[in-house]
Parts: sequence; structure tokens; C-alpha cells
Amino acid sequence: MKHFILFIFIVATGIFTLPAQVNNSSNLLPKPRSTTPGHEGCYFELTPDTKIIDLTDDVSTKNAVAEINRIAVAVFGKKLKNDTSVKGPGNIIIRKNNSCPAEGYLLDIAPENIVIQCSSGAGAFYAAQSLKQIVPVQAFETSIDLETLKLPTVKIEDAPHFAYRGFMLDCSRHFWDVETVKEVIDILAVHKMNRLHWHLTEDQGWRIEIKKYPLLTKKGSLREETTTGHNEGFDGIPYGGYYTQKDIKEVVKYAAERFITVIPEIEIPGHSLGALCAYPWLGCRGEEGNYKTWPMWGVSPQIACAGKESTFEFWENVLEEVIELFPSEYIHIGGDEAPRDEWKVCPHCQKRIKENGLKNEAELQSYVNSRIENFLKSKGRRMIGWDEILEGGVSQDATIMSWRGASGGITAARKGNYAIMTPNSHCYLDYYQTSDRTDEPDAIGGYVPLHKTYELNPYDKLTPEEQKYILGVQGNLWCEYIPTPMQLQYMALPRLGAIAEIGWSNPAPEDKDINDFVDRAKNLSRYYSVFGWNFAKHFYEGVTPKEDEKKVYRGW
Ligand code: ACM
Ligand code: ZN
Repeated sequence: MKHFILFIFIVATGIFTLPAQVNNSSNLLPKPRSTTPGHEGCYFELTPDTKIIDLTDDVSTKNAVAEINRIAVAVFGKKLKNDTSVKGPGNIIIRKNNSCPAEGYLLDIAPENIVIQCSSGAGAFYAAQSLKQIVPVQAFETSIDLETLKLPTVKIEDAPHFAYRGFMLDCSRHFWDVETVKEVIDILAVHKMNRLHWHLTEDQGWRIEIKKYPLLTKKGSLREETTTGHNEGFDGIPYGGYYTQKDIKEVVKYAAERFITVIPEIEIPGHSLGALCAYPWLGCRGEEGNYKTWPMWGVSPQIACAGKESTFEFWENVLEEVIELFPSEYIHIGGDEAPRDEWKVCPHCQKRIKENGLKNEAELQSYVNSRIENFLKSKGRRMIGWDEILEGGVSQDATIMSWRGASGGITAARKGNYAIMTPNSHCYLDYYQTSDRTDEPDAIGGYVPLHKTYELNPYDKLTPEEQKYILGVQGNLWCEYIPTPMQLQYMALPRLGAIAEIGWSNPAPEDKDINDFVDRAKNLSRYYSVFGWNFAKHFYEGVTPKEDEKKVYRGW
């Protein structure tokens, strides 16, 4: 209907413009630090003749120019022209301003020009993302190429609160092709998020090509079948998939062009059955282990052997190739849910414990972490692990990802270790988002409605000094119960919007306004629709609903 009304308007006026726009800048998500709307009735006229003038000498601003051009192509059907100097009004000008914080920007939409100021290409890119949400959604909705777009004047001053604003994608339980991963990256970019934590190895499948160990992908990426329901039966259908090193490079480059760092996760020492199936000598039980890539959900009790030197050689060789592929400062080594029972009866593991004066198997895991961390350090990289790595003691340089609630992150911050907050209570996007499961796709369990994610306070219980160790926040999408890209997006959106808001704006608990947030999330969901992204409609779950909208926003 909206498209039809817009079409009539355009035909009736004969000019390919939109009706005068209300000022959309108050709807931005994540919320900027400060937004000052201009006088009513004052506009910048964006047209296909608007030029982009990049006056910075920063090569990375080309990615912001590309993003502005993606908007132009969607709205006008073509890219804007570039120029190197300002010759008159009607331009989008990008200027260097070193007083802008890292990733921050100033965006001034004035009648003469749109001016973006930034100290880095990332800042300019985030200004372009704000511009994308200021462009009325109808301009994206219509298939007609517009000739002019009137953007209300506004000044925005903005910068992120946290340096780490992440999303974890599990590609092992279900495999996502490169196009789907790129679409996830596009989604992250719209939300001004800057880390993709790529969960690449698991009991259920090894997903990254390692040249030195070809069986990892030839055998370890395949499972004979997959469990149905909640470990109720088996489907009898072989399942597999992996990324070649060429695929990985393509994803890393695509992400970097959107200022997103990809952090690979290689699970050590648990969650490793994919690797053990390929190379049984990695396991405590060797050939006798009869290892098979795990067809169930949950954690296999089989584990890599921490007693044998050959296992360390394997981990280091794998990480060597991983480091070549991923320029990220951090490498994630997993470390969660390691089932240490096999270590208790393994002569190699027990010998290692004895020879190194370790107290128990938890300390053996710390020994593993410390050797791996030293190896990463020797290559100029830093280690992240799930909060279990705290258990047998951890080095001061390790960064902790707090998932079993916030306690791991709190302990880490109090010890002076950096932490990333991703408590399952707020950030597990594979949990149900509604209590009414009638029309809901099957999920792992749990209950994390949108408002709950928005309630996350990454600084809870921490003193100002301890708060300095919180690097940021992350939403995690485990994919046991998520078989299609459509469902992936449904589970991620709109809760990713809440993660983004905490990561970028981090409003103080007393300043949070759930109704304002939900209104902005719902507004952003119209953009999700035009970009072709599925999303859950339970905006008002647990929030006083606007009765007239309650019905519309149910179901999936
Ligand atoms: C985790 O959810 N096992 C990190
Ligand atoms: Zn062992």
C-alpha cells in the first residue's frame, strides 16, 4: 500500500522526490551521543549530482565513500561522483578532524553541504551508517529511482562507548556459506558493530581448511547424520561444509572494508571431535577412541590429549596458518566446557601433571592455555578464552569472555584481566525471545526477550577502576537449532540492536528508556525489511504494548 501511495505521489508531482520528510535523526539505533536537529523546514537536497569530496588523506575513508555510494545506488540507481576540492554547495564533504575520538564522527547535515568529520576511516564509515538511517526508509522501499531527497538538517556528535562490539557466529553445528556470512557482516555494519567472532571448530564439524592437515576438512568437516529435536533421534542425512583459505581471505577482506575485525576461534582442548575424527592420535585414546564427528547436540566427552607433545605441535601448526589468515590482534582458543575425565585416566596426561608439579586436570588445562598463549605471543598475538580458562589460573594478559553469567567477567576485571561481557542471561541470541512459543521456531531453550538484552549492564558490581577492564559486549549465536539463514536473522534481530546499543551508547541503567529503545528498534526493522533481513516481531515482549500494534507484531 505504501509503495502504491508513494508511486501515486511521484506520478502526480512528476518529480521523483519524496514527500517532505519528518526528521528521522531521533530514531537512530544505536543512539548517538548528541543529536541537534536543525530548524524545521531546512533541508539538504541530496541528488544524483551531489558530489563526494574526500579531503582526508586517509585511504580507509574510501570504505565510507563506498558505503555512501551503496545508499546512492539504492536510492538514485547510481553512484555519486567524486571531487577533490570544494567548488560550490551541494556536496558531501569528508574532513579529517583529529579531535574526534577513534571511531567517532561529526555529521552536519546543513542546507549547503553534508560535512562528515572524523579522525579515522571507521568514523567516516559510521557517519555513513547514520546517514543510511536518516535517509527515509521509503527511499529504499520504492523501486523508482529518485531524483532528489530532502534530508532535514541536523548535527550529530558521536563515538562508541566500548571498543569491542561483537557478535559470535557458530558455523560448526550448522554451516553458513560465504554469502550468508557476508550478509551477517552487512547486518553488523548497520549496527556499528566491529567484531565478528567466528566459531570455526567443534565436536560437530571442523570448518576451516588447514593446508598442513588436509583430513581436518576432508573428514573432520563431515558428520554422518544429525540428531533431530533435542537429541531425540537421527535424520540419517550426511552433513558437512567448510571454508577454504580463499573463502576465509574473502570474508576477512569484506569485513575489514566495513571496519569489522574477524576473530577466529579454534577450540582447545575440548569441543574437538572434528579434529580427533580426522587425526585420532590427537586424542587421549588414539585409534582406540574410534572417534566420529559428533552427530548429537551437547558436548562430547572426548578431548584432545594434553600429555602428548604431538598435540601441541598440531595446535601450533594449526594456529600458525590461522594467524596467517586473520590479522586480528586476538585469537580465541575456546577453552569452554572441556570434559577432563579422559585426562584423569590417560597415562600421557597424568605424566605431564606429575612432571610439571600440577595439582589436577584443571591445572593441566591452564598449562595448555599458557603454552598456547606463549605461542600466540611469540607471533605478536593475544589470547581470548571463555571464562573457564580462569579455573586453573590464567596469565595476566589473557582476555576473558564471560558467558556463564557475568561472574567470570567480574572476577577477571577484579584481577586486572580484560574481559568481554557476553552473559548467557542477556546475550545468548539462540535462546527463545518470547514466552508464547505457539508460532515460534524450535530453539535451544532459555528466555532472552529483547528488553532483557537491553537491560544488560556490563559494569554491574564493578568499581570505576575495575570497569576499565571491560572491553565491551558481544551477542552469541549458537546454531544447533538454527538450520537456515532466515532463522539465523530471525534469532539475531532485533536483539542484536540491543547489543549494539549497549556496545555503542551504553546508557546508564537510570537513563535507559525501554519504550524509546523499542520504538527505535521497530523503526530500524523497516530498514531490515528493505535490506531483505528477517527479524523477530516480539518487540513488546515484557514491555507495556501499544494495544493497536500488539497484534501486528506477533508471530514469525
Ligand atoms: C559456551 O556457550 N559454551 C561458551
Ligand atoms: Zn591424554
